[in-house]
Amino acid sequence: MQFSTKTSAPERVKTACVIVPVQGGKILGAGGAAIDAACGKKLGKAITAGDLDKKAGAALLLPLDGPAARALLVSAGDESPITERTYRKMAAAAVRELRQLPSGEALSLLHEAPVANRELDWKLRCLVMAAREAAYRFEAFKSKKDDSGRGVTAIQLSVAAADAAAANAVVEQTQALCDGVDLAKDLGNTPPNVCTPSYLADTARALARTHKLKVDVLDARKMESLGMGALLAVAKGSAQPPKLITLTYQGAGAKAAPVVLVGKGVTFDTGGISLKPAADMDEMKYDMCGAASVLGTLRAVADMKLKLNVVGIIPTVENMPGGTASRPGDIVTSMSGQTIEILNTDAEGRLILCDALTYAERLKPAAVIDIATLTGACVIALGAHHSGLFSSNDALADELSRAGRESGDPCWRMPLDDEYQDQIKSPFADMANVGGRAAGSVTAACFLSRFTKKYAWAHLDIAGTAWRSGANKGSSGRPVPLLARFLIDRAGQ
Ligand code: BES
Ligand code: MN
Ligand code: ZN
Repeated sequence: MQFSTKTSAPERVKTACVIVPVQGGKILGAGGAAIDAACGKKLGKAITAGDLDKKAGAALLLPLDGPAARALLVSAGDESPITERTYRKMAAAAVRELRQLPSGEALSLLHEAPVANRELDWKLRCLVMAAREAAYRFEAFKSKKDDSGRGVTAIQLSVAAADAAAANAVVEQTQALCDGVDLAKDLGNTPPNVCTPSYLADTARALARTHKLKVDVLDARKMESLGMGALLAVAKGSAQPPKLITLTYQGAGAKAAPVVLVGKGVTFDTGGISLKPAADMDEMKYDMCGAASVLGTLRAVADMKLKLNVVGIIPTVENMPGGTASRPGDIVTSMSGQTIEILNTDAEGRLILCDALTYAERLKPAAVIDIATLTGACVIALGAHHSGLFSSNDALADELSRAGRESGDPCWRMPLDDEYQDQIKSPFADMANVGGRAAGSVTAACFLSRFTKKYAWAHLDIAGTAWRSGANKGSSGRPVPLLARFLIDRAGQ
């Protein structure tokens, strides 16, 4: 999908379809009104006749015979002022309708609708993201590609000449973001017999080549010499060798402390000896979505040429049962020197993350954010709308919460009080890897906090937000929008 801006008078633009927002029986904005005037009030008459449903996101396609071959009226419902949620519905409806058209380019005036507390840049971002979301397909493993709904391949955004430069910058940045989101989606959706730790390493190497990043991949031997006993304990049961990937983007001076993103990369989580039930186990191919979001974010950051340093660290393993797998009761020594009693081999994410978090110390980071499909408990707590945010650093937590709201990829802060630490006491080791059913996502974060004392740290539990289940099963690409927004704001761009 292509996007561009158009500064000429909308009623004179030759287009397959012009998108016009409508509310309370009236066209919203001067551009839409000009189109209506130029076509003998055809739009106004259809609205007055009640042909456009008043429900937010309802749409009506009208044939015209001016420079625009059609108009697509999109209803804003009756809420005033228009909320972000309603505008998102309108954008989604518009791109859905466009997909039904035979071909050509559309011209959007949707952003002439006023949205509470939001300006042009937000509205443009919203439409570009909706169009890219609708255009996304994952067909690498289909022998026949679905070519329906590929009619409109380009959208022009009608803006005033004075806004064109800023609008172009927004469009370009959002396209870079969406390329990162799509990479994260592709990796998540790729089946676990293909997307192995080695595959993630190869993807990181390819990304390094195309996007001028530095890449470093550690194998099991190197990890052993670093003392990464927790990570290796998870990898032991699998025929797939584990990898620790470091991907570096340098957009600022070599001395500037980097933001480090650590992504959980369990390419398949059977649970290990603490085997998961069979139902929906296929979805555990998504247990590497934290890693995918790190790769997607680095791709976006490099394309945006952000002026800051960002390092992605990806511990990646497959969690399998077998004769060489770790057992419940095993005690391992992490790279930090702290010992861990593995009471449940299905709590493997924290075991690979803790060593990666210790490894991150050497980078002297400005901040470390880990991203992980860590706990089913987080899905129970927050569902699919908010990722869980854990941090004892209020400033960092506020920055991430804000980035989530701005990007439409929200997170919700959860507690991390020391009181919960008691739940992961072990009679035999420094800690246990599970803390019981109560507050499962909090005790998982408490576990990680014990490895992050040397820097500002936050943890995002994306177990509920990284993919959709059911008929529309698929990776969401989250939280790439949140992370990219956080980094854009840090870079001051
Ligand atoms: N990858 C899972 C978490 C998960 C489960 C995410 C379901 C999304 C949907 C993680 O490795 C896991 O198995 N966690 C356990 C922890 C428990 C054993 C303390 C869980 O949540 O059940
Ligand atoms: Mn697990
Ligand atoms: Zn897992």
